[in-house]
Amino acid sequence: MYICFEGSEGSGKSTQARLLTQYLIEKEYNVLLTKEPGSEHDPVCHKIREVLLHHTGTISNRAELLLFEADRAQHVDEVLLKASRNRYDFAISDRFDASSVAYQIYGRNVVSQEIFDVINNFAKKYFSFDFTFWIDVPPKIGLERGKRLGKSDRFQREDLVFHEKVRKGYKKHFMKLKPKNAWRKIDGTLSIDEVQRIVRGIIKERFM
Ligand code: TYD
Repeated sequence: MYICFEGSEGSGKSTQARLLTQYLIEKEYNVLLTKEPGSEHDPVCHKIREVLLHHTGTISNRAELLLFEADRAQHVDEVLLKASRNRYDFAISDRFDASSVAYQIYGRNVVSQEIFDVINNFAKKYFSFDFTFWIDVPPKIGLERGKRLGKSDRFQREDLVFHEKVRKGYKKHFMKLKPKNAWRKIDGTLSIDEVQRIVRGIIKERFM
């Protein structure tokens, strides 16, 4: 099963992905935890992440989109598709292509949905996740959480207006995503334990 966590800065999705992984391992499943950009299971992804998050000069918005897609192509071919062959029961990813819709289409306004779909389908070879959790949190709260954790990267440093557009992008994306039972929105202002309880409930009911 392929499970994805999505959400804006400070939504807590990385914590939730990690807690779900721990829980499934305790239940004796083989679980691969991965992420975009920069899966730790692939050195090329790792290098692309460094540029995307920490390059200090200018990166053109088109180049940025294509770097995320290059990371995605490598991630799909070298990590995600190999996971089932390597007999993992679950592959859990911290972000996938909904992030590009939110950040690049809505946040940066760099590409139309139509052109994005062509580029993105080429990069991901039409791969999709079985289920996606969208952890939604108001940007003001999320950015504060990031600051407290000492996070500072090219996206964390964008202003509130940018992050409001990202949140709107997620909303638009999920509202039209089909099938409707392949994703669920969770309120990211709930406690870590409460969000995890909801996540586990859904996984138990649907996939265990
Ligand atoms: P990361 O450090 O992984 O933090 P987090 O996922 O906890 O926010 O940062 C990844 C950043 O990359 C994040 O700010 C969102 C951004 N991003 C995009 O802009 N487009 C994408 O397609 C993806 C996968 C991520």
